[in-house]
Amino acid sequence: MKERVIDNSWSFVGADTKEFSHRYHVYPAMMIPQIARRLIAEYKPKNTKFIFDPYCGTGTTMVEAKLANINSAGTDLNPMARLISKSKITNYDLDKILQYKDLLSDLSFAFSFNPIDKNQKIINFENINFWFPKKSIRELSFLLNNIHENIDIDYQDFFIVALSETLREVSYTRNSEFKLYRMPKHKMEQHNPDTFGIFLNKVNRNIEGLEALNETGTNTNVKVYDFNTCFVEPKKVLNQEIDFIVTSPPYGDSRTTVAYGQFSRLSNQWLGIENASQIDNILMGGSRKDDLTTFYTEYAKEELMQIKEIDNKRFIEVENFLNDYKLSIDNVARSIRKNGRVAYVVGNRTVKGVQIPLDYITVELFEQNGFEHITTIVREIPNKRMPKENSPTNEKGKKSSTMNNEYIVIMEKH
Ligand SMILES: C[S@@+](CC[C@H](N)C(=O)[O-])C[C@H]1O[C@@H](n2cnc3c(N)ncnc32)[C@H](O)[C@@H]1O
Repeated sequence: MKERVIDNSWSFVGADTKEFSHRYHVYPAMMIPQIARRLIAEYKPKNTKFIFDPYCGTGTTMVEAKLANINSAGTDLNPMARLISKSKITNYDLDKILQYKDLLSDLSFAFSFNPIDKNQKIINFENINFWFPKKSIRELSFLLNNIHENIDIDYQDFFIVALSETLREVSYTRNSEFKLYRMPKHKMEQHNPDTFGIFLNKVNRNIEGLEALNETGTNTNVKVYDFNTCFVEPKKVLNQEIDFIVTSPPYGDSRTTVAYGQFSRLSNQWLGIENASQIDNILMGGSRKDDLTTFYTEYAKEELMQIKEIDNKRFIEVENFLNDYKLSIDNVARSIRKNGRVAYVVGNRTVKGVQIPLDYITVELFEQNGFEHITTIVREIPNKRMPKENSPTNEKGKKSSTMNNEYIVIMEKH
């Protein structure tokens, strides 16, 4: 394994991370577009025709592949993330989008004067009143119904993405956090959000992104899937081998690291996704087995043994995640063509005060699959919205930094 190379030219301090359709919707632990862009420009193998992201989230890699005029695909188990991805890679006809926006704007204006319509279908799901003011439930239902009834099916996602961000903002959730927490009672009493105003602002903001995307004139094939690489070899679904992977995988299970499912739960519930509250359990490391014997690491052996000595339960959680990570990498590796490459952007989180070198583990797992390590670039993360600190011991006040650096691991298949 080669030494890590610290290179803060990869930090992109002050860069605009919301260009093009990258602005459509926030999401936890998004990849910075500039990283995907530079990886594609500087590290793609010769004759790259197809890029894949096995943890595509909201599609940063696919948007950047599109901007580079390269076909791509991605997969994610979170329905809301897939919907955002699909919307971000679509060249909607701008005139039609503007017409639909005007229609929704007129309808909402009329509704705000006469909000009582006995025939209106009000969306309902478990605990909806716990998370949303009554007035907002009516307004959001009105918008969603009109999107479904009055907008061409191929254009609905664009507006649903704006609605998804809106509903988070008008809900009683504390918006500064990715996990779902309700705001304190005194704030709830004063909470009177302007649902239609917020929604139309987001639509306008996203229209500017769409305009910029359309102006690039790129026209590529992009597809979003919902398969799990822990169990499926991507090339069998994609019907082709992969030239290059650019991805940022989770760095731990959702319960103890980033809760992607929880972040998207309300949106998934509004869209009627079944088991919306269970998504975190199906993500990597989400289902726990107590007797794992498959995962073994040489490069991170000491760290894992230290965690096992301190807290066996936490060790089992980590091992479950790493076991899924290995299954996924084995399947991904088999789908890369000869001399194809992978770029994994990973974080090394701290568990019980011990830092887990996920970058070493990534190198090791690809080496076991016949890959050679090209480099690991270390960059500082100045502008990524994710929890930087946690309490390793669960003792109040005792904090340790979990994520100051990010590691870009680049490997090539022999
Ligand atoms: C760090 S995020 C990716 C963010 C993405 N690069 C972006 O810019 O939006 C990791 C993603 O992995 C997804 N995920 C977790 N386990 C998965 C699995 N087994 N298969 C596919 N996706 C998974 C989560 O839903 C989450 O969206």
